[in-house]
Amino acid sequence: MRFLNKTVIVSGGASGLGKASAARFIRDGGIVYIFDVNPKAGKKTAEELSAYGEVHFVPCDVTNEKSVADAYSKVIAKRGAVDILHANAGIIDKPMTIDQMSFESWNRMISINLNGMFLMAKYAVSQMLRQPGGVIVFTGSNWAYVCDPGFTSYAASKGAVVAFARALALDHAKDNIRINVVCPGNMLTPLLERQLSEESDPGAALSAMGQVSTPEEIANLVTFLASDEASAMKGSAVIIDQGETLGYGKGLRIEK
Ligand SMILES: NC(=O)c1ccc[n+]([C@@H]2O[C@H](COP(=O)([O-])OP(=O)(O)OC[C@H]3O[C@@H](n4cnc5c(N)ncnc54)[C@H](O)[C@@H]3O)[C@@H](O)[C@H]2O)c1
Repeated sequence: MRFLNKTVIVSGGASGLGKASAARFIRDGGIVYIFDVNPKAGKKTAEELSAYGEVHFVPCDVTNEKSVADAYSKVIAKRGAVDILHANAGIIDKPMTIDQMSFESWNRMISINLNGMFLMAKYAVSQMLRQPGGVIVFTGSNWAYVCDPGFTSYAASKGAVVAFARALALDHAKDNIRINVVCPGNMLTPLLERQLSEESDPGAALSAMGQVSTPEEIANLVTFLASDEASAMKGSAVIIDQGETLGYGKGLRIEK
């Protein structure tokens, strides 16, 4: 029960990695608030995870400041604290080169994957400064470092998340707010399933990825970083990708 009675917020918690980390936090005693833009999936996930402990769904669009502020207000009014934030909501786009990319699609990516992280962190830190401290874990990606062709906007957003998180960790270490980033490789979530479904042969495309992590494997790292066991970890961006980034990005993919 590492998180007994801790107030935990997970953005993008209705699906994939966020759902898996929410499950781990709840099982270890946390009171979890799932912030997600998809109310149907959010309610369904909260209902499913309530079998393990206390969990609530709060509608929230991480790109909209009023929506984020209202969601935090609800949690703080009820709990008086935000102990842990897993800032995780994110999207990916179809592969395209820059000449094919509209400014609108670039802005959408930056808005969700980067501006959304800013808003989630701003309201968490503002509350954590009023309490003895707190912990933030951002979801980055190993594509902050290497990536497949056609993903410039995604790579830019995730590279910025890593740099932002490390700078934020520096600002707030003195306030007892620990901040780190997980950088997963391919992870079998609805996001990846949607990406694969656009391939002519989804099975072959999945196989070419080599070993693909489960969201639960990545959630193990998220919850470790959020726990007191990770007290020495401040401003780390931890790659967790089955060795995908080894060997100039191809790494262990060729081994399967
Ligand atoms: N799946 C992978 O292979 C992979 C690899 C590396 C990093 N990531 C990152 O992991 C994170 C989670 O991805 P996933 O694979 O679990 O995806 P997912 O699509 O399964 O889940 C993402 C969740 O975020 C929510 N969301 C999207 N836009 C939102 C918004 N504006 N406001 C609030 N919620 C919003 C969605 O409704 C969804 O529930 C993302 O940041 C993604 O970039 C995924």
